[in-house]
Parts: sequence; C-alpha cells; structure tokens
Amino acid sequence: MEIKITRTETPKAKPQGKLGFGKVFTDHMFIMNYEEGKGWHDARIVPYQSITLDPSAMVFHYGQEMFEGLKAYKGADGKVRLFRPDMNAKRTNATNQRLCIPQLPEEDFVEAVKAVVEVDQDWIPTEDGTSLYIRPFIIATDEFLGVAPSKTYLFIIILSPSGAYYESGLAPVGIWIEDDYVRAVRGGMGFAKTGGNYAASLAAQVKAHDDGYSQVLWLDGVERKYIEEVGAMNIFFKIDGKIVTPMLNGSILPGITRNSVIEVCKSWGYEVEERRISVDELISAQKEGRLEECFGTGTAAVISPVGKLRYKDDVMLINNNEIGEVSQKLYDTITGIQWGKIEDKFGWTVNVGK
Ligand code: PLP
Ligand code: COI
Repeated sequence: MEIKITRTETPKAKPQGKLGFGKVFTDHMFIMNYEEGKGWHDARIVPYQSITLDPSAMVFHYGQEMFEGLKAYKGADGKVRLFRPDMNAKRTNATNQRLCIPQLPEEDFVEAVKAVVEVDQDWIPTEDGTSLYIRPFIIATDEFLGVAPSKTYLFIIILSPSGAYYESGLAPVGIWIEDDYVRAVRGGMGFAKTGGNYAASLAAQVKAHDDGYSQVLWLDGVERKYIEEVGAMNIFFKIDGKIVTPMLNGSILPGITRNSVIEVCKSWGYEVEERRISVDELISAQKEGRLEECFGTGTAAVISPVGKLRYKDDVMLINNNEIGEVSQKLYDTITGIQWGKIEDKFGWTVNVGK
C-alpha cells in the first residue's frame, strides 16, 4: 500500500500535566477511501482535521460503522512498540463481516497504524501509565436513506495521548451488575466492535454512574443470569485458586487483553476456565470466601481491579476492596511487555520505525 504523507505546517502544543483518556488528539491522521468497484484507495496521512459529510450519509442514520482500539508505547530504550496489532486487524474484519463493511487487508491495517504512529511518535507520552491510544474506525458514507449496505466508506485512524481510563487509576473500581437492560444477544452483534453496542449501553451506564459505580457488568440477554462482560472490558474472577472468565459465546467482545491474560496465566501454571458463570455462583463464592479476586481487562482499561460488585440490593466486597496479587502481577507483566521492560516471550510486540 502506498501512503502519501502531508505534514502539518502548524504543529499543536503537546499536552502538559496529567493526561485523561481520549481528550487530546495529535497533529496527523490516516485516511483512506473505499468505493465499490475500486476497492480501498488513496491511503494518506494528513494534518488532523474535521471531515465533511452530507447529512444523508448512511452512518448517521443506521449506524453502519466499526472501530478498534490499540496503543503505542515508548519504552525507556526509546523504541516505539505496538501490542498485537494483527489481532486488531483480524477483529476489524470479523466486525466488518457482521456489518457488511468490505474487508480490509490485515497487512494494510497494520501498515497504516505503524505509518501514522511513526509520523506522530513525538506525541507518545512517557510518564508511568501513559501511552498513545490509537483509534481506527470505518464509517459508511453513501448519501442515501434506504436501509442497505453503503457502497462507499472512509477508514480513518486518529491518535490520542492518554493516561488511565478510570480516574482512579489502578485503584479498584466498583461495578454495577445490570439486571434490567441487556447489551447484546447471541446472533446480534455483541462480538463486533461497533458503535451501536455502546449506544445500547449508555442508559445503564448513566444509572450506574448516578449510584457511584464506574461501569456496568452485563448479564446474558436471554436469562439475565450469566456473566458476560463490562462496558469497556472483559471480566475475570479468581475462584478457589482458579482463573475463571466467561467463554466467548458470540455476544461478548473477544478482547485482545483477555486472550493475553489467559496465555500469561496459563504460562504461570494457573488453571484457566472459560465457561458460563452465573451471578448466583459468584454470590455463593463471595459469601463462602472463595471469590478471591476480580479484575477487568481491556486496551484502555489495561488490568482494572474490581473491589465492589453490586447486584440488586447486595454489595459484594472483593479482596477488601484492595488490588489482588494476581491482578497486580498481571498488570506488571502485561505493561512490562508493552513498555519493553521485560522480555516478550510471547512475541506480541511489534516495533514501529527503527
Ligand atoms: N469488551 C468491550 C465491550 C470493550 O469495549 C473492550 C475494549 O476494547 C473490551 C472488552 C476489551 O477488548 P481489548 O482487550 O481487545 O481492548
Ligand atoms: C478499548 O479499550 O480500546 C476500547 O475500545 C474501550 C473504549 C470503549 C473506551
């Protein structure tokens, strides 16, 4: 893929002080068009700018869009690393297939990410816990109000120097187990990374926030009995010394951090179970002192210890609302690999530039 690069003549000031999540954007962005019959074309890196779309553009009406999330890290050795970008490329195409968006060659996805990160590498923050959040996304741009797959699309990548996703940083978060609204059902698009899943989550998230909880833990859409995942992360429990997480069933996102945590835990000799977990099982395990730890996993959230789970009128306190041993060790190991501080035995990191 040939990428034409136009550099900005008016670079912006870099952010100072504590970085939040997803509020500041770099000097450049990647953009590429798709047109039926012509395929993906005109790959280019341009100064960060607004895009103009006709009000009838299909993405505004029927939500035909997808997005991804990954990060670039600058290590103490000055090297810039990505974490498993091939997995984001594969998941892009799984999402695209569900949403009738044309497939994007995996190597082009990775090449585009590398190219734009290289152009804006001076924006990668280096303070502890910070990174450059990368947001690739595709939108349907046909000017048409009929319900059908669009024939034209834009693929864009924007970059945002970011700190911790939760304001509390690595401190345990409180999570609200939602027993009324549901996020997704099997056969729907829960496994896909598309805006509609997040729009569907907002009403419950607002309710949880109003009650002082950081995010919502979804139950299955049919029986509202089995644990699925959290608003922006997959969920893990340590019960009776085993690591347990909901199996991939079509309605939860196949998280890249989830997959990495499973591999790391297995390499440490833990038994890892991917299976159905009922909310009743969790309540019993907690009452009997067998629920030892709970943590969420995600690109933005990294490893987020969960100290409190609320279900109806019950509040389950986990590990005394303190970060657990496995959660801490996983955080240190995964971020250690990402920052190049520890050996990457799994071959997960990919260098950008030299
Ligand atoms: N589940 C949901 C709903 C998410 O939005 C995310 C974030 O990307 C995840 C899980 C974790 O996925 P990953 O580890 O690939 O970032
Ligand atoms: C990510 O972790 O990359 C995500 O996409 C979560 C996002 C919804 C903030």
